[in-house]
Amino acid sequence: IPVEPFDLVIFGGTGDLARRKILPGLFRRFLAGQMTPDSRIIGAARADLDAQGYRDMIRQGIAEFGGPESTDGDGLAQFLARLDYVSIDATGEAGWQQLSGLMRPGVIRAFYFSVAPALFGALAERLHQHGIADPDSRIVVEKPFGRDLDSARALNHTLAEHFREGQIYRIDHYLGKETVQNLMAVRFGNILFEPLWNHHYVDHIQITVAETVGVEGRGGYYDKSGAMRDMVQNHLMQLLCLIAMEPPSLFEAGAVRDEKLKVIRALKPIAAHHIVRGQYDSNGDGPSYREEADNPRSFTESFIALRAEIANWRWAGVPFYLRTGKKLRARHSEIAVVFKDLPHSIFEGDEKRHRNILSIRLQPNEGIDLQVTIKEPGPGGMRLIDRPLDMTFATALGEEAAEAPDAYERLIMDVIRGNQTLFMRGDEVEAAWAWTDPIIAGWERRNDVPKLYDPGTSGPDDSLMLLHREGRRWREIRG
Ligand code: BG6
Repeated sequence: IPVEPFDLVIFGGTGDLARRKILPGLFRRFLAGQMTPDSRIIGAARADLDAQGYRDMIRQGIAEFGGPESTDGDGLAQFLARLDYVSIDATGEAGWQQLSGLMRPGVIRAFYFSVAPALFGALAERLHQHGIADPDSRIVVEKPFGRDLDSARALNHTLAEHFREGQIYRIDHYLGKETVQNLMAVRFGNILFEPLWNHHYVDHIQITVAETVGVEGRGGYYDKSGAMRDMVQNHLMQLLCLIAMEPPSLFEAGAVRDEKLKVIRALKPIAAHHIVRGQYDSNGDGPSYREEADNPRSFTESFIALRAEIANWRWAGVPFYLRTGKKLRARHSEIAVVFKDLPHSIFEGDEKRHRNILSIRLQPNEGIDLQVTIKEPGPGGMRLIDRPLDMTFATALGEEAAEAPDAYERLIMDVIRGNQTLFMRGDEVEAAWAWTDPIIAGWERRNDVPKLYDPGTSGPDDSLMLLHREGRRWREIRG
């Protein structure tokens, strides 16, 4: 379904995110007919370019990052014709009049702040000063949304001076992932799971987001953040919320975000021995984290595993084990709900522990599988084995799965539609920082040194111990 015509201004329009994700994504939405030819995208950045120069730059970006569609020459020419460019000074006056002159009356206006958060205030202010933003305009902001509670509050405050909360779209691209939304479909679209979704039946939950990439060229940013700020405070926290929240009365922004907020607020503080930090070493082939980050004394974690608990009736006593890291064995993200053992087994001699596990594979090989116990075939009596009821979306859905928009595409279209369900509200972000701040402060106080781990592994051994000492084990990280 096409969205209404829009003028989308991308501040930081020549940046990495714009070239890799935003523009190639919009191009796919254009080819799909969702972005109609009466919509426009205006790149705004410091570089001294004209519209043609910008189109050339984006043409290259799409060729490099756009996937198979980028060969559609006619489509590409039509799309590029929808692009314009303004050379602008975020903190000065240059370019603002020109931008103001480009905006068309009667179409939706959206402003994507793909710039350092330090510039949010200046941009918001100038958009108003020059009458470019109207009361219905949307602004989109990227992570990192602050680096602690104070800075996040300050950012919220700055934005609130010029925009209502209903106009602010804080992106967490994990919420735009197809399978993350499927998580909600599975939970709330089936009667099967919800009755079991609590401490009576769930033993524990594991959330793993494993990456094979290192920090590469992003060392400067990453070294000041670490896995806690870069991944846990936002992406893993969002996954935790969706898996743990109470059923919202409606799949709608206010209701969903209220329920997520309650989960974050119910998180218990974490004891130091329930967290393992790691940093990848060099294994001879590639550089170590410290080399990549160009900081020989860095104590920043590129891996983290932790045991969280949610203090409410539903989840009392159920551990939520979260882990994420770079340079691990495989790119593999999943959420696994591990159900409790049977209260009693009628099968004599069957010593094994059989457990139902519902696992939601976020990427790659998106799908869902439910481990069930069945009889081993053959005459050997009632011997039991565990097998997955596997639904790989690519197989079950075929082309439909392949055509699903990627996270950025979907989220930008939601901005235009005015749907905030998959965006973070200001209070959510603040609550997440309120939970992370004391943890990070503890490390800083103790000068905590992350454990080294070899690239291509599952992280430091201590992370295995986090579960072992409670009689549990991590699911395998496999490609
Ligand atoms: C980003 C982090 O938000 O998410 C990166 O800053 C990380 O460090 C990336 O690599 C992971 O996203 P995805 O979609 O590749 O899982």
